[in-house]
Amino acid sequence: MFMEDDLIKRAKDVLTPALRIHADILVKAARGIYVEDREGRRYMDFSAGLATVNTGHNHPLVVRAIKEQADALIHSGCIFYYETLAVLPVMLGKVTPEGIDMFFFSNSGAEAVEGALKLARFYSRRQGIVAFTGGFHGRTYGAMTLTTSSLRYRREYQPFVPSVYHSPYPYCYRCFFGQKPGTCGLDCFAYLERIFKHFVPPEEVACVIMEPVLGEGGYVVPPAQFLRNLRSLCDKWGILLVLDEVQSGMGRTAKWFASEHFEVVPDIMTAAKGIASGMPLSAVGAKREIMTQWPPGAHGTTFGGNPIACAAAIATLRVIEEEGLIENARLVGGHARERLKAMKERHPCIGDVRGLGLMIGIEFVKEDGEPFTRELKEILGYCLEKGLILIECGVDRNVIRLAPPLVVTGEEMDKGLDILEEAIGKVSA
Ligand SMILES: Cc1ncc(COP(=O)(O)O)c(C=O)c1O
Repeated sequence: MFMEDDLIKRAKDVLTPALRIHADILVKAARGIYVEDREGRRYMDFSAGLATVNTGHNHPLVVRAIKEQADALIHSGCIFYYETLAVLPVMLGKVTPEGIDMFFFSNSGAEAVEGALKLARFYSRRQGIVAFTGGFHGRTYGAMTLTTSSLRYRREYQPFVPSVYHSPYPYCYRCFFGQKPGTCGLDCFAYLERIFKHFVPPEEVACVIMEPVLGEGGYVVPPAQFLRNLRSLCDKWGILLVLDEVQSGMGRTAKWFASEHFEVVPDIMTAAKGIASGMPLSAVGAKREIMTQWPPGAHGTTFGGNPIACAAAIATLRVIEEEGLIENARLVGGHARERLKAMKERHPCIGDVRGLGLMIGIEFVKEDGEPFTRELKEILGYCLEKGLILIECGVDRNVIRLAPPLVVTGEEMDKGLDILEEAIGKVSA
């Protein structure tokens, strides 16, 4: 048997360096919030595999559903129907926002975003697309064109997809317009309206696409009024509102989908990550009057919505419901935010604590308020040594994203936050 370090070294030698793996550990097995390496060392995974294993790693009911489906049928390739493909959309339609009741299944978040863009353009017969700065929508060309959470994702890839416009995300802690929450007049929304005066007439815009809680760009919760104004603006001009819930969906924010917090219903939405507890599955959901206008062959897939991924998704929906994971996300997430706010008083390097449910961002700053970046890596490294996996996000990579599986208990959260505080103390001392 190769030693762990040797195997990682060999892997690095043959895997593309473009693929960034966050932690140099070689995991052999995982269960719930824990992953275990080959030497039997356990880590608490507060990244949930990039905010994906909402039901915890290898939930027994999800594993069972996968095994049973694998025994029966692995693949169809859109040649024939199968039971999980018939059951899943009905179940999903019960938890998606009112009126979103038809679905297209694909394999990844980026693919769902591409599908949503294609559907919006097809249905509206318009070309323009408006997205937000700091957004992350995936790595394929359309999704990457929307993505502005880091130049790293865009460098050397021009030209991008045409007719895409960007407006500032309502990121109140670092307001583009220097305003403060509570007293601002939503200048970010006024800017968005200006796009329709200067760059593109609204009647040529197919859709506005937005993450209802900014993910990769820094775990930012926008003001509810922004989303409500956006809904009205879209209605006024016949523009489709697309909400990208790839990261914020499936109970992560203590609602099935984050849009519920703002009481805003999209026309089209995406879901992925938590939808099948780690099996590759994503969905484009749309209102019936929109989806029914997409004729056979206008979009398609070989692997999307495959029998096993759909079986995992059905089990995932059941587990989230039956184990009360949304309520757990609300309780443990609320407790974590309170503790982090108290921590902020003790550690001036914590500039902001924000989030909904178990989608929590902790923004680190220097004394002058500038992003605290290099030291954040040290904090994450220290946490890993102590058995806690945490990852960062944010345009300046100075935000810790706290996104553990939704099965995390209050005690486990406390244990993780104790390690985090110890790390902060060590690095900022
Ligand atoms: C909001 C959002 N959209 C799309 C994607 C892309 O998903 P995938 O990596 O599965 O293609 C991500 C991934 O982090 C995301 O957070």
